[in-house]
Amino acid sequence: MTSIYWYDNAFLPEEEVRISPHDRGYNFGDGIYEVFRVYGGNLFEAEAHFERLRLSAAGLKLALPWGLDGLRAAMIELVERNELKEGIVYLQITRGTAPRNHLFPAGAAPVALAYTREVARPVQAMEQGIPVVTLEDIRWLHCNYKTLNLLANVLAKQEAADRGAADAVLHRGGIVTESSASNVMIVKDGVLLTHPPDNLILHGITRAVTLRLARVAEIPSDERPFTLDELYAADEAFVTGTTVEITPIVAVDGRKVGSGEPGPITLRLQREFAAAIGR
Ligand code: PDD
Repeated sequence: MTSIYWYDNAFLPEEEVRISPHDRGYNFGDGIYEVFRVYGGNLFEAEAHFERLRLSAAGLKLALPWGLDGLRAAMIELVERNELKEGIVYLQITRGTAPRNHLFPAGAAPVALAYTREVARPVQAMEQGIPVVTLEDIRWLHCNYKTLNLLANVLAKQEAADRGAADAVLHRGGIVTESSASNVMIVKDGVLLTHPPDNLILHGITRAVTLRLARVAEIPSDERPFTLDELYAADEAFVTGTTVEITPIVAVDGRKVGSGEPGPITLRLQREFAAAIGR
């Protein structure tokens, strides 16, 4: 089946998408994006994703001429046209097309592009857990905006793969922030810990859902910074994200986390999450 894209306000086949060489997303990474999960043909936590998109746009002083309602209607139509049941929607918005100049272009209209992709839930990683390595977080200081500038994330993820790990957990001077493409949580003495939602991390939707599920399950949680040493000494650790859901971390820098198996609180939260998405 041909894949239908939403580009420049029209629905069209992938082959007909024509990206300008002068698109500021292409030249500067000057834009924002969202990755939505689709379960059973529905956008999961759509409201939260659009609110974060609004905050990212405001952070970059980027206009959203479609309005959030217009974007939402387009994303729903895109899912329907592609008959997507289980997968993701990728939406990115750049500042538009104009001759290369660092200054914001006068009069250029933002350019939106969206497509869907079938993605299965990562069952094996969720069951067995993943090894991670730790790396210094060398990103800028507005990680709360979901921008297209992912070079530091890309380098971190590749470094992790080159070292035989599934992901890189990032830290700033020994304080764990998040991973290359997900948020990080640990459990110590029954308490769930994760970095506070400030400018140093992306305010993950899955992170928020997980904290909400923990509250309902009466698992105590604390959004406070924790150190690399606390990560090494954690009873349990996991990452949260739109595609990884709640994936256990079973080894950090070659050392086992806890027993080296997914821990009981992680498993409990995974079950609550599965229930929340109707599984
Ligand atoms: N990544 N932190 C970073 C740096 C991320 O890129 C992501 C998401 C998250 C988790 O956020 P959420 O739960 O809202 O997906 C945290 C997306 C999926 C990506 O870039 O593909």
